[in-house]
Amino acid sequence: MEIQGKSSLSGNIRVSGAKNSALVLMAASLLTEEKLVLTNVPQLTDISGMTEILLTMGVQIDRHEDEISIQPKGLHHVELPYELAHGLRASFFCIGPLLAKLGKATIPLPGGCQIGARPVLEHIRGLKALGAYVNVEHGLVSAAIPGQRRRLKASDIVLDCPSVGATETILMASVLAEGNSSIENAAQEPEIQDLAKMLNNMGAKIRGAGGPKITIEGVSKLNGCKYDVMPDRIEAGTFLIAAAITRSKLRVAPVIPEHLSAVLQKLRDCGCLIEIKNGGVEIQSNEISGVDITTQPFPGFPTDLQAPFMALMTTATGTSVITENMYENRMQHVSELQRMGASIRLQRNTAVIEGVPELSAAPVRGGDLRSSAAMVLASLAAKGISKVEGLNHLDRGYEVIEEKLNNAGADILRHQHQG
Ligand code: EPU
Repeated sequence: MEIQGKSSLSGNIRVSGAKNSALVLMAASLLTEEKLVLTNVPQLTDISGMTEILLTMGVQIDRHEDEISIQPKGLHHVELPYELAHGLRASFFCIGPLLAKLGKATIPLPGGCQIGARPVLEHIRGLKALGAYVNVEHGLVSAAIPGQRRRLKASDIVLDCPSVGATETILMASVLAEGNSSIENAAQEPEIQDLAKMLNNMGAKIRGAGGPKITIEGVSKLNGCKYDVMPDRIEAGTFLIAAAITRSKLRVAPVIPEHLSAVLQKLRDCGCLIEIKNGGVEIQSNEISGVDITTQPFPGFPTDLQAPFMALMTTATGTSVITENMYENRMQHVSELQRMGASIRLQRNTAVIEGVPELSAAPVRGGDLRSSAAMVLASLAAKGISKVEGLNHLDRGYEVIEEKLNNAGADILRHQHQG
């Protein structure tokens, strides 16, 4: 992408459906034999990857614009090839539903990624607690319900850490289990609430999702349903930070404000005017001063907006300290921001940023999804034309980002052969 700096944004930006919600809802479709229709599904390469995985398992999928129909009647056991699962961590979401529905599942270990090691020990511990036999060998996780039993058995599970993926996996596995289960120290991210809401629409009996303890009354069968994916809080946050870094006035909608409380507070703290109005957020930004952030599980400041927020802080007045607590390798944007003239000292997972009056355009590359977004934001503010590479990462999680920003006044040119 070639991005003209010193841009100013105005008007409205539409927020797409949430990637991390849509991915898990697609996996949850395996829990029924009836048709499931998801609306507000973003067009992203991660969603295409998940579609391909479900097709390999015999599921029928039709897409019309933002709506996908999933007919899982033909679901059968396959050993998912590593090429399909590689790079798409969400592929592991299928293990819970497959186990609950077919009694067995074989999924490649997702492995680490650019931002860290990303273990799945908690997911596996949860499945074992529900009575599954789980074996990890040759890079594959094989899980099965042992003996003649057809259903998993309920269990009370206390997670060692509030992992989003583990909470989702255990939730999907336990809805069809025999008896009442509970998950303590559960992740409280909005994606968990979206999943529980859809499963309840399908006939599940889940209570407490969004809080630290979730209870699940097992049912023997789930129905199909039509479900609207919630708006993407991380995409929304990225556009709000884009407005802040370009010192612009912008409306971003739809947004569920409670999903972004920590982010809106930090934007206010650094000097932005924020108004929550008619299902959206209006932001107005002039002077920005440095504020400190520490990434935490929800409702804390989300790790997925750490890189974009750091881009903003490089242009602030004064000093800010940003601490990344969730992933061990999520500071790759630091060296790229430094190449644009940012003043950042990095010590392990803590970055100390002295705001500079101006960033200068440079060729930069995002090493993962959210650092690519940070590069786009920094480029919008910098002096000159920046070239941003690593668009394959960006396309995993941001639907037509250049079109959305250009409609709001940015000047971004994408060369189709790059990526
Ligand atoms: N963890 C463990 N053991 C486990 C599982 C997790 O120690 O068994 C640790 C991880 O190492 C990490 C922390 O717990 O330090 C959080 O991991 P979690 O399992 O909560 O994350 P995830 O489910 O793998 C989802 C999102 C991420 C987002 C995190 C945190 C999806 C597909 N991914 O990952 O999204 O950063 O929750 O909110 O839902 C992104 O969209 O850019 C992205 C990386």
